[in-house]
Amino acid sequence: MMRGRFIALEGGEGAGKSTQARLLAQALGERGLKVDLTREPGGTPGAEAIRNLLLDPPGEGWEAEAEALLFAAARSDHVARRIRPALERGEWVVSDRFVDSSRAYQGGAGALGDEAVVALHAIGSGGLRPDLTVLIEADEARVAERLAARDGGESDAIGGRDMGYHRRVAEAFRRYAEEDPGGFAVIDGSGTPEEVHKQIMQAVAPLLERV
Ligand code: TYD
Repeated sequence: MMRGRFIALEGGEGAGKSTQARLLAQALGERGLKVDLTREPGGTPGAEAIRNLLLDPPGEGWEAEAEALLFAAARSDHVARRIRPALERGEWVVSDRFVDSSRAYQGGAGALGDEAVVALHAIGSGGLRPDLTVLIEADEARVAERLAARDGGESDAIGGRDMGYHRRVAEAFRRYAEEDPGGFAVIDGSGTPEEVHKQIMQAVAPLLERV
């Protein structure tokens, strides 16, 4: 049986990833493909438990290294128990965030640097890369607006970091996309959900031709 395809949606806070992941999974399903829609951190019971520890940390919160290790541990379980088995069954996997979130948040914007995050991914998940990473870019003012509307001014431990951090996250995502133009599609997230969805379907089209 042919291995399925793996698509990750990435971007900063409030870029509309979750909506787009849902629309993409639905569109692929309508083409007769079996699709597993998932998210990170999370996607398995163990990884969802780690998600709670990361987004609502006990005590004084995590040091940068511990935070990166927890994300890598959650991803390791997600890849081993859900993503790889689905791909091996021939299913398509659409994930709302994957390793490039760790590269951008913990690596680029945080203290760890890209090399360390990539090394953790090699240990935890055999270095699995999506067939395509869709980076949805949104402008800063819109992001701040959406963040305020979504959280009522209160965010989780990572979403709530200052604008400088989120700016570095966006720059890191852009840099990784520029370094790997074949692996990424960069999408302008400023249109309506339908407009953005249309661009994503165009980016995914080459994967569909090879099915
Ligand atoms: P979530 O509520 O899923 O955020 P969003 O709706 O913006 O996608 O929370 C995930 C948070 O965790 C978000 O702030 C990004 C952060 N994150 C990392 O810092 N590193 C990672 O590897 C992942 C997967 C997420």
